[in-house]
Amino acid sequence: MSDVRTRFDLQPDQIPTAWFNIMPDIVKAGMEPLPPLSPQTKEPIGPDDLAPLFPMSLIGQEVSTDEWVDVPGEVIDAYRAWRPSPLSRATRLEQSLQTPAHIYYKYEGGSPAGSHKPNTAVAQAYFNKEAGIRRIATETGAGQWGSAMALACQMFGLECDVYMVKASYDQKPYRRVFMETFGAGVVASPSDKTNSGRAIREAHPDSTGSLGIAISEAVEDAATHEDTNYALGSVLGHVLLHQTVIGLEAQQQMAMAGEQPDVVVGCVGGGSNYAGISYPFMAGKLRGETPDMRFLATEPAACPTLTKGRFAYDYGDTSRLGPIVPMYTLGHDFVPAPVHAGGLRYHGDSPSLSLLVKHGHMDAVAYTQNEIFEAGLLFAKTQGVLPAPEANHAVKGAIDEAIAAREAGEERVILFNLCGHGHFDMQAYDDYLAGSLPDFEFDAADEEAALANLPEVSIPV
Ligand SMILES: Cc1ncc(COP(=O)(O)O)c(C=O)c1O
Repeated sequence: MSDVRTRFDLQPDQIPTAWFNIMPDIVKAGMEPLPPLSPQTKEPIGPDDLAPLFPMSLIGQEVSTDEWVDVPGEVIDAYRAWRPSPLSRATRLEQSLQTPAHIYYKYEGGSPAGSHKPNTAVAQAYFNKEAGIRRIATETGAGQWGSAMALACQMFGLECDVYMVKASYDQKPYRRVFMETFGAGVVASPSDKTNSGRAIREAHPDSTGSLGIAISEAVEDAATHEDTNYALGSVLGHVLLHQTVIGLEAQQQMAMAGEQPDVVVGCVGGGSNYAGISYPFMAGKLRGETPDMRFLATEPAACPTLTKGRFAYDYGDTSRLGPIVPMYTLGHDFVPAPVHAGGLRYHGDSPSLSLLVKHGHMDAVAYTQNEIFEAGLLFAKTQGVLPAPEANHAVKGAIDEAIAAREAGEERVILFNLCGHGHFDMQAYDDYLAGSLPDFEFDAADEEAALANLPEVSIPV
């Protein structure tokens, strides 16, 4: 038996009791967060503008300047079903790579929905229930967020309707059944239930959908029904805030391991799981306590927002219903190729994460589908855990770091977030094993066309 410790478990009473808000540190470090703008007036919006979509408690968190926000007791009770989540050292992967690096991973796939998404879903369901809301309308890319929201609504007694990106609806029928099992209604997006969906279907009858389109449908549904609110699984400040339970636990667990990460790696769709693991560590960097710690965001080559997008004000959704926000974007009209990592097919990124990349505090890298499945398969074979296609981007980033450490002869400490399992993604693994997975390349002409439609705003970025 090896005497190298590979599991770092926390006790149930070590679930964080407050979420960590990075915004005060961002401001103190000299970065200037820009306000969201109204899609109608293009002027900065206030809390009241968001009231048709979200409860005031969540809007308050969205604009909070407090460093800590208390987690309600009911939410901690819900967290107990899967938190604290384990942190493990991937020694078998290290051995197979012949690397002196230490690779640690935080595993969020053990939640009831199979990913990090319930960390915010239960919080959002709780605050909506508190505000007297009856029903939630939301979208889902890979099906992970919809599953989390269906589960959370069931836990807190809310109805739930999910607009599921058509590419994923067709690729992952069992994700739909999972959501329906928890009582949610699920339609393929673009659907004929909303004006936004009908307009897209008319213009593009073969549309495979996108997160931008599905968001438009869910926002329209919520805005046109008094008893219904909207819930978003990524991008917004309060979503990232709730996910910081991941990094706060990981800090305690890395302390148990007696190590500090040299680099923190994660995949980015809208930024929530990566912000979740990285922001508590990022605070140390911004405060000058750990100036050399590096941060690596990974994304698909088919939707390379951080590596090939433009930092600009853009609409968060295709039909221009939601706020205009400052972020890295490929344009709100951009429909990414149907890669299996459906949760990473979003044209933009969270504003705070975009700001950190823009100011050089975070690096970003993009990988093709075949690269990430090769990495995911090696991880599955060595560690026995089969990652979601989204998570495979983080696995690839960690493996490349470990190889670079080997080549440099350095004992680097790598921490990455394994944000979800891939048990509903076997078709994707099957395609990879059969050698028939297309490597969608990013089309610069598409980018040019989509970026041409950025809104004209008077605030410079
Ligand atoms: C498993 C998984 N990972 C990552 C993501 C990307 O979202 P985010 O960047 O907000 O973590 C998703 C989104 O659906 C997801 O389902």
